Amino acid sequence: MDMESKNSYKTLAGETKRDIFKELLKYAVLAPSGHNTQPWLFRFTEDDDLYVIADRTRALPVVDPHDRELTISCGAALDHLEVASQANGKALDVDICPNPNDDEVLARVRIGGEFFHDVRDLFDAIHKRRTTRAKFEDRLLPETLAKECAYIAEQNGIELTLISDADSRSAIAELVAEGDRIQFADPRFRRELAAWVHSRRRASQDGMSGSGFGMPDILSPVGALVIRTFDLGNGIAAGDREKILEGSPTLAVFSSPKDTVENWLQTGRALSRVLLALAANGATASYLNPPVELDQLRPRLRDAVGCKGIPQLLMRFGYGPGAEPTVRRSVDQALLGTE
Ligand SMILES: Cc1cc2nc3c(=O)[nH]c(=O)nc-3n(C[C@H](O)[C@H](O)[C@H](O)COP(=O)(O)O)c2cc1C
Repeated sequence: MDMESKNSYKTLAGETKRDIFKELLKYAVLAPSGHNTQPWLFRFTEDDDLYVIADRTRALPVVDPHDRELTISCGAALDHLEVASQANGKALDVDICPNPNDDEVLARVRIGGEFFHDVRDLFDAIHKRRTTRAKFEDRLLPETLAKECAYIAEQNGIELTLISDADSRSAIAELVAEGDRIQFADPRFRRELAAWVHSRRRASQDGMSGSGFGMPDILSPVGALVIRTFDLGNGIAAGDREKILEGSPTLAVFSSPKDTVENWLQTGRALSRVLLALAANGATASYLNPPVELDQLRPRLRDAVGCKGIPQLLMRFGYGPGAEPTVRRSVDQALLGTE
């Protein structure tokens, strides 16, 4: 299947469902995930539909004890799958949490009817999207793009609140700094984070390279050692505070009506499509999640943001320098039960 070609729909129609899904999965696995754990698995059903499955062996029990971010990450992979299919002219029928007795299967996906909207710009953005942790330029998103992002979230039942005023950003900066200090003071948090910081040359093809944090890839083990050993909370807090005040003209909060698996999946689907819309327009994003991850800070974040729903992700949107691509496991490593 030639995903670049406008005429690929014809090719797609001539292949088996499994072949089509295997091709689409190449794009699903490029989705973002917490600590780049890639906590997703896929399995074909007897009818050659596709199950999206939570891989809880890749959970982060300290920072994400309820697998909330794990589920958001799987939602993002699901949306990448949909974008790839839609760009090829085929909708996917998605049944989320299809089996109430099985909390591993997060979605059942069928190849559906024709899809008429042109989403090739989002599809092309799958390869461009990156998490950019550097400071952003002092430039707001154009209003049309900001509205498009809010609309995408709403289509998924998620509220997206964009924050640019200095007072709110300052209040949020204090919450992030407080969260950084609390998290880094906990040796279990540091050990868990350090376990996912490693060179991109590692066979596991997951985790975060030191290059994502401004050091050469080869020094990733040193970075991991430092994270594991020292409480860097004050330094990280000061850095994040400065980044928010001086390098983050727009903060963004995704919030959902409830705090359920369905809501987390929808947050992930919204996240993916918003990030792709940003990347398609030359913009980028990164995460500031401590005030969402810590129970004692989450209600205070909600107050500071003034959102109706429950905060699920706190992010920065804007224009930044390029970031290096991160590693991914292959489709075969994520696809269960195929020869
Ligand atoms: C649910 C979720 C939570 C994340 N939380 C953080 C975070 O708190 N801090 C951070 O720097 N990156 C965070 N990330 C970004 C991941 O580290 C990133 O997606 C991963 O390393 C892959 O890199 P890429 O997004 O450039 O492809 C998060 C991503 C997801 C999907």
